[in-house]
Amino acid sequence: MKNDRANFGSKLGAILASAGSAVGLGNIWRFPYETGNHGGAAFILIYLGCIIALGLPIMVAEFLIGRRSKANTAGAFQRLAPLTHWRWVGRMGVLAGLLILSYYSVVAGWTLEYIGEAVSNSFAGESPTDFISSFQDFSSNPWKPVLWLIVFLLITHFIIVKGVEKGIEKSSKIMMPMLFILLLVLAGCSISLPGAEKGIEFLLKPDFSKVDASVFLGAMGQAFFSLSLGMGCLCTYASYFGPKTNLTKTALSVGAIDTFVAILAGFIIFPAAFSVGIKPDAGPSLIFITLPNVFQQAFTGAPLLAYIFSIMFYILLAVAALTSTISLHEVVTAYLHEEFNLTRGKAAKLVTGCCIFFGILCSLSLGIGKGYTLFGLGLFDLFDFVTAKIMLPLGGLFISIFTGWYLDKKIVWKEISNNGSLKTPFYKFFIFILKFIAPIAISIIFINELGLLN
Ligand code: PFF
Repeated sequence: MKNDRANFGSKLGAILASAGSAVGLGNIWRFPYETGNHGGAAFILIYLGCIIALGLPIMVAEFLIGRRSKANTAGAFQRLAPLTHWRWVGRMGVLAGLLILSYYSVVAGWTLEYIGEAVSNSFAGESPTDFISSFQDFSSNPWKPVLWLIVFLLITHFIIVKGVEKGIEKSSKIMMPMLFILLLVLAGCSISLPGAEKGIEFLLKPDFSKVDASVFLGAMGQAFFSLSLGMGCLCTYASYFGPKTNLTKTALSVGAIDTFVAILAGFIIFPAAFSVGIKPDAGPSLIFITLPNVFQQAFTGAPLLAYIFSIMFYILLAVAALTSTISLHEVVTAYLHEEFNLTRGKAAKLVTGCCIFFGILCSLSLGIGKGYTLFGLGLFDLFDFVTAKIMLPLGGLFISIFTGWYLDKKIVWKEISNNGSLKTPFYKFFIFILKFIAPIAISIIFINELGLLN
């Protein structure tokens, strides 16, 4: 059964595929609005702390669990810890993957609508208030977003069934550099808008008086979400890594690329938002109402450039989302395929069907289903909260305890050093973080949020 598993042809392929999973709507859509909701620079500093102290070590841990076991997430724990309850960590990850894919596809679908808008040049001549109302009309429409989310899931489905490796490796090699360049250009444009200074200040001048427990939970959740950690996604990808892939270096590269893209997105969104008077805490709609403004205002003398850039931007955003939805889909498909003896095709169909069902409910929860809430949240927000702020950090907690305390250290060292062929100067520090720092920090943030420390 293993020979129909995907395999990344090269070391670069491994890095690019993992970075493709990490870089997505989490960086360009979720990071800015979480930063906006939590007050700006102080949130970013705490976020960076979470990336370095928790994200990178846990990423290496996921990599080593995946490559060592060569199995899907749940199977990986089963193999490394047979007949124990550790497999539940993998199963929780699979469930998280399904839930994230469902609501993530809604936003991914929005990017397709915006490609259409950009191509038909409908941003031209519109004012900021027009952008706000047209986004609201669109996202609460019962049909259009649902249609796009189905299209997006079907594209993901098609790629998953056709085979992951060639598609991801090839498209990542071209699309990632293009995305970088375009983001740099747009950040330059946004910073040069009149009144952009306030946005830059918002990003760079921390106001710690606004920091409370929810800021820490938000930053930690965002770090896990953005790095695709805590649900075995990178574990599943690492099961396709070759024996020569340097796990530590790969984690550092993926972490650096991911953080760079998120910060760049911040430098595009906030200067522009402040410049046109859009509140930074506008929530999930933030990029969909600020970016059309950037294209409108930064290129007033060059409408053709505005036209081309807006089309390119939304295409690249959709592709970045696609490389992430593929990775989410792969986690659940690999699990069903390998654990329940379903063919890959059948497993993929089941996943796509489930996600279309939940995705439609999530999409409707932003429009005609607004009145239906659970714990005070609509389904879209509930899925986001439960996965990013509870399941992923919890998964991270268990993965660090598993690697730091349970797993035989000979296995850990062998994987990190590629059987002794690499130098491992940070090995002891890495184990120390997984054993103590990560579990304690994650627990404190959880307990603090529950209000037990006050
Ligand atoms: N990291 C992706 C993003 O930032 O868009 C989202 C994601 C993908 C989360 C895969 C979790 C995951 F397993």
